[in-house]
Amino acid sequence: MRGQVSRWVRRVVAACLSLGAVATPAAAAPLEERVEALLAQMTLEEKAGQLNLISNEPILDSGAFARGEVGAVINFSNAWLAADADRLARASRLGIPLLVGLDVVHGYRTVFPLPLALAASFDPLLVRRSTAAMARESAAVGINWTFAPMADVARDLRWGRVVEGLGEDPWLTGRLTGAQVEGFRDGGLASTLKHFAGYGAVLGGRDYDATFVSGAELHDLHLPPFRAGIRSGADAVMTALTALNGVPTTADTGLMTGILRRQLGFSGLVVADWQAVSSLVKHGVARNGAEAVRKAMLAGVDMDMTSGLYLRHLPEEVRSGRVPEGAVDAAVRRVLRLKFGLGLFDKPLLDPAGAEARLLLPETRRIAREAARASLVLLQNREEVLPIDPKKVRRIALVGPFADAAWDQVGPHEGTGQPHDTVTILAGLRERAAAAGVEVVFAEGCSRTCLDREGFPAAVRAAQEADLVVAVMGEPRDRSGEGSSTAYLDWPGLQHDLLAAVAAPGKPVALVVFGGRPTELGAALERAHAVLMAWIPGTEGGPAIAETLFGDANPSGKLPVSWPRSVGQMPLTYDVLPGGRPHQPNSRWTMGYADASPLPLFPFGHGLSYTRFDYGEPEVLTPRVGPGDQSDAALEVRAAVTNIGARPGRAVAQLYLSQPVAARSRPKRLLKGAVPLDLAPGETRYAQFRIPVRDLGYHEPDGTLVVEAGEYRVTVGGDSTATRSAGVTVDTGWRGPPGGDQALR
Ligand code: BGC
Repeated sequence: MRGQVSRWVRRVVAACLSLGAVATPAAAAPLEERVEALLAQMTLEEKAGQLNLISNEPILDSGAFARGEVGAVINFSNAWLAADADRLARASRLGIPLLVGLDVVHGYRTVFPLPLALAASFDPLLVRRSTAAMARESAAVGINWTFAPMADVARDLRWGRVVEGLGEDPWLTGRLTGAQVEGFRDGGLASTLKHFAGYGAVLGGRDYDATFVSGAELHDLHLPPFRAGIRSGADAVMTALTALNGVPTTADTGLMTGILRRQLGFSGLVVADWQAVSSLVKHGVARNGAEAVRKAMLAGVDMDMTSGLYLRHLPEEVRSGRVPEGAVDAAVRRVLRLKFGLGLFDKPLLDPAGAEARLLLPETRRIAREAARASLVLLQNREEVLPIDPKKVRRIALVGPFADAAWDQVGPHEGTGQPHDTVTILAGLRERAAAAGVEVVFAEGCSRTCLDREGFPAAVRAAQEADLVVAVMGEPRDRSGEGSSTAYLDWPGLQHDLLAAVAAPGKPVALVVFGGRPTELGAALERAHAVLMAWIPGTEGGPAIAETLFGDANPSGKLPVSWPRSVGQMPLTYDVLPGGRPHQPNSRWTMGYADASPLPLFPFGHGLSYTRFDYGEPEVLTPRVGPGDQSDAALEVRAAVTNIGARPGRAVAQLYLSQPVAARSRPKRLLKGAVPLDLAPGETRYAQFRIPVRDLGYHEPDGTLVVEAGEYRVTVGGDSTATRSAGVTVDTGWRGPPGGDQALR
């Protein structure tokens, strides 16, 4: 095949050269032939150009496009800029179109909840649809490549980027990473899994700090979401800005080639993170730019993001024999394959004039609202204060700095989201309340920094005269996201005092917690009857929250992270090892703290509803399962779930696995399945789980997957503290490749 391709390539190239023209193989030719035909005509400089990704900076050499020095761009975030750049690139000698990239993290113009909030839906179909809607909007302005999803498992809430990921659990993160990859593809964008690998383990939650991860933990915890994303067809993988066990990922051949290419079988494009090539000098593993280029290229990094060093040094590195041209060709092939695969060579130039009309479409906003509703987590609902009953509640006092905070609602990593497109909680609640004949009195109480009490009296007066206080408090947008790690998890300013003041008159209080990630709630839990986690809900957050407060929508979100009592508990996750001295309350010589509980305030997977669910005993349909190398080997379990309340609602049945005795100590429970079920009052349905046998195992430090023969337990319920369990036996043990997926090898 390869011989045939190159014969064909030679013919096309020869024919074109004889005509003095550049070969442009016909659109109908197979993709590999088109790639080879183009590659055969490229100079070393043009090859380096294809591996060069630039940003839209104030000082921009627009001639670089025409000279073929740019293969991809980032931050050309409107249709005119994108179309201009692409037009210039297509006018270069070889006319190669641009990859137009952007971090489409939770929307382009219509802003969806951040990924961590979306993860609370535990719903891959919704995540896929939402992601496709974001992708369609981005594609409308000429973007064809996103630097998302972030597949990093986040284990420490101080890390600002926890909001960009899908929580603490590798199974859930993997499931939803796969859904995002599919959604981006549905909407016309190439996807990028980032950041390879281990970025979620930054020391102390400090962004960009070092990571130290054992081989076993890397394979058990950090790699599964990447594997899931690769299985779903991710187009690219991005390196991390961090050094893993002392080696910057961008120069780590073992990681980028040994693990990513060989073990995980990834054949797509590897892009360095922002200036990660030049930062090899700062990391102290390269003396200068040329050495940084050499190390990154030889490690397996195809494209240089914004350091400009591949363009500057790669041709000379090749000419001097320090970098084999074959390595550069392989990288260029991957870029060209992606461009051909996206159809860029065959698409006409974008007409920017029509793009604006495809933003903020009602359909996109509708999905954003649905996603915002599905992300809301009802943490507490004492005395069933929610949903609001308009017969009892005639006047609502709406207080708190985030009730009318359009810019905060857009959140970090906002694409081109605009505050003026955003429906705030105030606006949403006013509209919904008016429809029920309920009055809303708004008294902010304090600003988002909440440094003084000037507004407190007005808020207290509003509370005194109301039947219900809705308080919207928490964190502003700039306390989460990249470069926004925090040493504390508390609310800025005097917000707790404001809550105490508005609760003092004794009216029921519904607290809506605003912010990218869980924060310390402290006394707020006693002061508020109901607590609803709203996250950073995006453009349609206001109506979504109002509809939920009024019961038009029934909350069904579940926590994708354990909710801590205090920052001192970090890191805190549900999948703990039993330990030789497991925690016992008030027992000094057991695992824990002398001054606080080691347990979360709300467990992973927790989330209430306006109805209640009963979970039956899990039934193991395959009480004995065979060896995992049979591709159909799976553990099958079902459990009946009944809606025992008076309202329709959605349960998320969660299955946790444990292996009580194994060759190594294993986590007390691990999420291995989650099934959302919509149930009418009184209705019973089965949650069906099918768990591939490979998911029962653990990895040895070199990545070997081990599924031991023996006894396992499955526990099914509504959160990670579920108690109904059943046993299952694995008859034959199995050792296999990492992830257990033969097909990937
Ligand atoms: C981040 C990446 C992001 C890139 C481009 C970097 O600082 O780590 O996640 O894709 O910037 O915006």
